[in-house]
Amino acid sequence: TTSRNIKRVGSVKQQLSRLVKESLESLFPDEVQPIVAACQAKFGDYQCNNAMVIWSQLKGKATQFKNPNSIGQAIAKNLPESEMIESTSVAGPGFVNIELSNKWISKHIQNMLVNGIEQWAPILSVRRAVVDFSSPNIAKEMHVGHLRSTIIGDTLARMLEFSNVEVLRRNHVGDWGTQFGMLIEYLFEQFPNWEDAGDQAIGDLQAFYKASKKKFDDDPDFKARAQQAVVKLQSGEGKYRHAWQKICEISRKEFDLVYQRLNVQLEEKGESFYNPYIRGVLEEFERNNLIKESEGARVVEIDGYDIPLIVVKKDGGYNYASTDLTCLWYRLKEEKAEWIIYVTDVGQQQHFHMFFSAARLIGWLPASKDAYPKVSHVGLGLVLGSDGKRFRTRSSEVVRLVELLDEAKDRSRAELIKRLEDNGKITDWTDAELESTAEAVGYGAIKYADLKNNRLTNYTFSFDQMLNDKGNTAVYLLYAHARICSIINKSSKDIEELKKASTCMSWKINTGIGKIVLDHVDERALGLHLIQFAEIVEEACANLLPNVLCEYLYNLSEMFTGFYTSCQVHLMFSFLDMIQAHSQLLHISVQMNVKSVNAMVDTGVT
Ligand code: ARG
Repeated sequence: TTSRNIKRVGSVKQQLSRLVKESLESLFPDEVQPIVAACQAKFGDYQCNNAMVIWSQLKGKATQFKNPNSIGQAIAKNLPESEMIESTSVAGPGFVNIELSNKWISKHIQNMLVNGIEQWAPILSVRRAVVDFSSPNIAKEMHVGHLRSTIIGDTLARMLEFSNVEVLRRNHVGDWGTQFGMLIEYLFEQFPNWEDAGDQAIGDLQAFYKASKKKFDDDPDFKARAQQAVVKLQSGEGKYRHAWQKICEISRKEFDLVYQRLNVQLEEKGESFYNPYIRGVLEEFERNNLIKESEGARVVEIDGYDIPLIVVKKDGGYNYASTDLTCLWYRLKEEKAEWIIYVTDVGQQQHFHMFFSAARLIGWLPASKDAYPKVSHVGLGLVLGSDGKRFRTRSSEVVRLVELLDEAKDRSRAELIKRLEDNGKITDWTDAELESTAEAVGYGAIKYADLKNNRLTNYTFSFDQMLNDKGNTAVYLLYAHARICSIINKSSKDIEELKKASTCMSWKINTGIGKIVLDHVDERALGLHLIQFAEIVEEACANLLPNVLCEYLYNLSEMFTGFYTSCQVHLMFSFLDMIQAHSQLLHISVQMNVKSVNAMVDTGVT
């Protein structure tokens, strides 16, 4: 595809680092890595901070430099000729302040407009990654924690995909384990004709799970049969396999409803998939003398933990750890992934760290945690209700995700209708238009609220907050986007035509566009911020933190407001492009039609 052929230049930071590296190479015989970072506007745009470090390394050696400042001077003077740099100055102990040239910034933006934003994709050192996210458990509830993992995992996958990493999006569903004995046995008992009955037989799978669990706890005969059922299932007996498949299928349908609504792609490779490989993997551990006996169980001892990692239970069965260890082996050896990322609640951290350590012991992973192949556990904080406790709905103890999505949509639809009625515009709208706009706003609001917080912190779920049109919310950003579309409309550009010419990530805007000139300070500030997009994505990828991207996008919107009030609209096209690209990454739907965009702006939601 074209995106692969695009000449990628890397971020501004990467481009500047290359220039600084050249300067350093000829000055200092020992290899020195360039240290370049964006800096406060009063100093310049970027800063090279190598001088002090080099000074301390040179201490005691005979050199031409009398202090760090003179090293800074030399680095600045030795920078290769480049149209990127307008001027440099050296401050205090050798900080080299770099001011970028306006001409280069505008040229850079223009390039992006013509060649697509892929040009700005950061250059990462990984080619293939696994993102293991969502991963609910069959027949148990899919709760807000899973929603959070779904949203954040999807965004991480998008960020990496944008950076040209091949991502295997994996749904590691809990579809194996002892609970199936109980479920199957209950199915046989309650619905003797289960094979002929449709899904209706089971009805609400969560209620079914609860009822079977109750029976399991109360009735010793049933319990014994359930335990036998597990054995029969695991030995592959047809009738039991079939029942298991049926139960999984019903669960899957429920999960898919949520994925469809959020438009999230996932490939299911559940726990059961790895089952056939477990024995072989454990044999490898045995051969390497890494498995011990402990209280009847087979375990791997891990440094720094009081308890060992149990890989075979006392009863001979496998567990979550045996599956995950095997799954890791599969991802590394069979799928050849270089970076494997797991997105779950932070409560599972110990589990992940323990089997990661086991994989280091056996040599599947390098000793250094930063070296590749690499594993990362992306821990998520809890979702809290307004009472500060784990989020629950009034009626039941669990929150049904579909209901949550419904409510977000209903609330945003109601708000939209209210505004349209106030402005006498309601008759212009079809139901379908209302529906799709309500979905864009409602689902976008839920996603953005989840993404904008640091993922490790607990966050309080509040419809009022996330659907507010002021402050750092999806609604505010969607309105910023709507407003720009409306300017384009008014400036007699046909937005449909622009859209037709566009593909998902890149708006190939044809020559109709004016040349970008950065005259006004606000214009320059916006231009600089735009071209920093690449390094923000890079940072977000490196630390697996989507909130960095949200913050950037919010600042971009605010800067646009500043620019919009004080300048002509030269940069509008690039802004629109950026916001489109970001929305793709964060996966907030901005697919509103022209009419809804206009109506939103006309109704005063600007
Ligand atoms: N099913 C687990 C849960 O609901 C999450 C699985 C995460 N992935 C993994 N490879 N362990 O908590």
